[in-house]
Amino acid sequence: MKKDLVTLRDLSADDCEALLERSLELKVRHAAGISDQTLQGKTLGIIFDKPSTRTRVSFEVAMIQLGGTPLFLSAQDTQLIRNEPIADTARVLSRYLDGLAVRTYSQDLLNELAAATSIPVINGLTDLYHPCQVLSDLMTILEKKGRLEGLKIVWVGDGNNVAHSWLNAAAILPLNLVVACPEGYYPDEAILKAAVEDAKGEIVMLSDPEEAVRDADVIYTDVWASMGHESEYKRRKEYFAPFQVNEDLLIRAKQDVIIMHCLPAHRGEEIDAEVLEGAGSVVWDQAENKLHMHKAILERLYNLTNR
Ligand code: CP
Ligand code: NVA
Repeated sequence: MKKDLVTLRDLSADDCEALLERSLELKVRHAAGISDQTLQGKTLGIIFDKPSTRTRVSFEVAMIQLGGTPLFLSAQDTQLIRNEPIADTARVLSRYLDGLAVRTYSQDLLNELAAATSIPVINGLTDLYHPCQVLSDLMTILEKKGRLEGLKIVWVGDGNNVAHSWLNAAAILPLNLVVACPEGYYPDEAILKAAVEDAKGEIVMLSDPEEAVRDADVIYTDVWASMGHESEYKRRKEYFAPFQVNEDLLIRAKQDVIIMHCLPAHRGEEIDAEVLEGAGSVVWDQAENKLHMHKAILERLYNLTNR
């Protein structure tokens, strides 16, 4: 049976561990100039109807470096824009392609597409989740800290799609996750509740960023107004101000705290420019690791790995 990655909840702890191990291995092999051709002859359709720099390019390059071929399809240029049913589109694309990576607004639409296709469907971000991002972030934490367990990982800011995927990760892996959001901007209640119920470590929800980051090993933030929320930008900018990740906040964390941001970043809003460019920032490695993790995800979903 084909396997999708529409939310992190599609994966087991073993799946996650195998992906982390393989992505780190692929990174070392790439640096050594070893060319793995594990996806030779395979194709990946990439349908995005929201902007993307990192996710799109890293999926395209991942396919090329593994010997496969990516096909980028702007949703606007397909018949989807003229209301061809998603299930029809999905069934047709299954006849041409070996897999699909999709970035769109609605998670329901993505689920519908995944249900109608016979090929693996990968969530490249929806309003609700960004699973591939969090997998590559876990890889970055593992690379920097040598472990995931026993670390205090703190989310500071909007309870958005990336935060939801962090909650999902904490329902699969033994993470110690603190989520600090302004009142009214907490994560989706059902996602939070399900994650807390299934937590393999500890999940704590707070509305005080200073309390949240005390002794943090990892501080993670993201934009205050995600794609699709642009009309709320002005209001959010004022309301979220106490949640800016800046030097004053960092003082409360551990000295060797790492600062993460999925990017694109808005300097002077959710993160101070000095912190983003500072010694603790790992954001550029985070961005690079999307490439290595996407390769591992593709190999696994295309069932070409022996793990
Ligand atoms: N982090 C991330 O998903 O970036 P893009 O929007 O550029 O793909
Ligand atoms: N939360 C952000 C992530 C961008 C990669 C958004 O959805 O716009």
